[in-house]
Amino acid sequence: MRILGIETSCDETGIAIYDSEQGLLANQLHSQVDLHDTYGGVVPELASRDHVRRITPLLAAAMQQAGLEPRAIDGVAYTAGPGLIGALLVGASVGRSLAYSWNVPAVAVHHMEAHLLAVMLEEEHPDYPFLALLVSGGHTQLLEVRAAGDYTMLGESLDDAAGEAFDKTAKLLGLGYPGGPHLSALAEKGRSGRYKFPRPMTDRPGLDFSFSGLKTAVALVVRELEDADEQVRADIALAFVEAVVDTLAIKCERAMKQTGITRLVAAGGVSANKQLRLKLARLVDGGNGQVFYPRPDFCTDNGAMIAYTGYVKINAGRSEPLGFAAYPRWPL
Ligand code: KG4
Ligand code: ZN
Repeated sequence: MRILGIETSCDETGIAIYDSEQGLLANQLHSQVDLHDTYGGVVPELASRDHVRRITPLLAAAMQQAGLEPRAIDGVAYTAGPGLIGALLVGASVGRSLAYSWNVPAVAVHHMEAHLLAVMLEEEHPDYPFLALLVSGGHTQLLEVRAAGDYTMLGESLDDAAGEAFDKTAKLLGLGYPGGPHLSALAEKGRSGRYKFPRPMTDRPGLDFSFSGLKTAVALVVRELEDADEQVRADIALAFVEAVVDTLAIKCERAMKQTGITRLVAAGGVSANKQLRLKLARLVDGGNGQVFYPRPDFCTDNGAMIAYTGYVKINAGRSEPLGFAAYPRWPL
């Protein structure tokens, strides 16, 4: 079975084709980073318009990369939420229309479910059940995954997502958009122990997160320093990253103890973070667990994870009626 996947929930247009026997046949991506850089964040209207501009050329490129004619496609999957409504509607309308004109099933995919299943595209992927730490720009969630489609939410962020905290803190330190990778690179030059920020909500039971206070703690330190030089900013960046990464790792360890599940998947944009990967490796060091990641390109937004998730759903008999909808907020 061959499924075309379309991702347009935020600032990346992604189109991919997944074949259940041969794996990925095509993967095309256009990132809007340069478009939004000037504004220091995603401008929703510009994002929607750019998806409109890019989606058809990317579709043609994906078909060419796979060497396929439309009749070889057995279904179309599109991200239906959560995300920016205008951006989502571009992918959803194109996806639903393609499926209609090709006379194949269409399926609406939850963006976070796709992040969580992206790891299954890797040769080294976990058996079910596993725990999933989803850390993206909009969400921080810890889930028990018993099978594809069978999830229990163990904890999530009550305010800012981890990626959002990275982005906002990067702005405070005068770094460009998207903040996460810039902040993470700056932190590598930092000296550990110069600053210390709290590990929010780790001193009480439970698996929820809260990152907005951390950003405020950084803001207070930055305000006190008149003009912090590069080294001091790097020290602050490192202390921030250590606080986020420690907090995430503490909750993962707690979830492992609570469920008895020792396989952990980290996915979403922040899972590309080097310091997080080091910390999680240390957590399972000594053979008391295993950590799995999607390849770095599939940690951030992409069409491949949508195509794969669409395959799982269509293979299980799911399909949408002719109408389509997009959901800016959509609980997993
Ligand atoms: O999953 P994603 O591409 O899009 C959403 O679904 O939100 O995640 C984007 C988020 C952004 O907040 C970005 O700053 C963060 O992931 N990010 C990182 C790194 N790479 C991306 N944060 C920390 N370290 C990184 N290396
Ligand atoms: Zn995402």
